[in-house]
Amino acid sequence: MKQLLLFLMLTTFLSQIAFSQQKIWDETEEEKTERLQWWTEARFGMFIHWGLYAQAARHEWVKKRERISDEDYQKYFELFNPDLFNPTEWAKKAKAAGMKYAVITSKHHEGFCMFGSDYTDYNIMNTPYGKDIIKEWVEAFRAEGLGIGFYYSLIDWHHPEYTIDRVHPQSAGTQEEYDKLNEGRDMAVYREYLKNQVREILTKYGKIDILWLDYSFPGQFGKGRDDWGSVELIKMVRELQPDILVNDRLDLKDYWGGWDFTTPEQFKVQSWPEVDGKKIPWETCQTFSGSWGYYRDEHTWKDNKQLLVLLIESVSKGGNVLLNVGPTARGTFDHRADEALAGMGEWMKFNSRSIYGCTQAPEEFEAPDHTLLTYNPESNRLYIHLLDYPITNFRLPGYKGKVKYAQFLHDASEINITAPYGHHMQGSIATENDLNLRLPVNKPNVAIPVIEVFLK
Ligand code: GLC
Repeated sequence: MKQLLLFLMLTTFLSQIAFSQQKIWDETEEEKTERLQWWTEARFGMFIHWGLYAQAARHEWVKKRERISDEDYQKYFELFNPDLFNPTEWAKKAKAAGMKYAVITSKHHEGFCMFGSDYTDYNIMNTPYGKDIIKEWVEAFRAEGLGIGFYYSLIDWHHPEYTIDRVHPQSAGTQEEYDKLNEGRDMAVYREYLKNQVREILTKYGKIDILWLDYSFPGQFGKGRDDWGSVELIKMVRELQPDILVNDRLDLKDYWGGWDFTTPEQFKVQSWPEVDGKKIPWETCQTFSGSWGYYRDEHTWKDNKQLLVLLIESVSKGGNVLLNVGPTARGTFDHRADEALAGMGEWMKFNSRSIYGCTQAPEEFEAPDHTLLTYNPESNRLYIHLLDYPITNFRLPGYKGKVKYAQFLHDASEINITAPYGHHMQGSIATENDLNLRLPVNKPNVAIPVIEVFLK
């Protein structure tokens, strides 16, 4: 008995040590929730992938996909001159679409820096453009009241000390080949460079709201936390910008404080993501078409309804959407992006109340057929998004006694709560716990109409 007790005490003690070692900083769960609150309420942001690859106009991975050498890629550096760049215009478009924050690539995998850097010449100041794009962008977006975020690529296909790995343009096959390629390359030097640059972007532009580091791929010929020096790096980030939100691609999933939100990319989650049975903050990042960087000849653009459903469905599962624009090398948004943003903005103008500050509906509310529910815990209102417009009778299953009032959100017009209307209705109307709404026959002139339900 005594031995068992001793054993238990010892294991608890050891697990506590293990736990405390896994901690990046001291912050309670409540404090974290508070730190993330503005972002959780915002729900919708703009991702911007912009770099030299905009000139190739065939994916931001073009250097890897076509295994382009540094010499051959150099022309993009020598030509880059986005003469039509007007960040205020971009910010206004983001806002009009209903976005509340934005994240821009300060450096993508190609290694080129859109900011003036003391640690490499491979930066915007040495292109024909010659001005600090990140500085101009931050000022404009901040002036429009948008949250500011930097994407920074951990991966670097230009730095001479960065060791060749399986996603590098010069990737190889066998260990021997990698050893040979990496002779004389020293990842420790790159690690230092990476840290210096992250310090640069987090100190030169004032308060930064989000840091988006991309990405880890541990395993054979891959890279993870030790290659990046992730623990050191995140500690520095937290010190420099204590309020900042950091994504989860540093390979520090098992560290408290090592990440703030998870980042499902290019797919819709089945349900609110969890860790150890707890729901965690999440943001899906998505493109309008199949590429992040500007891709002239790519035509798989999602339509307005798909984009709206993506946003609504994400909020209905407690998440955010970061929707990407890949500006052209002249510095403008492609007309297809403009149209997509305008379409979303038109809907958001009248319906954003079902998005901002909203989350997954309480379990007691079942979603009626062909709908998505969101819920605002502050106002205690439920939002029913009609993906497929019904005919007249609209059954709210199990809602009896829970509803005060119902209206369309876009025009605040009352929707009557009535007995089901029709003839020979046997078998069509459900239990006595249901409520029936009487909808107008004609679908309102809104891509996805929303019913705002005032709950008791
Ligand atoms: C991926 C890709 C990249 C893109 C990013 C956005 O990791 O490598 O091109 O920037 O996802 O989430």
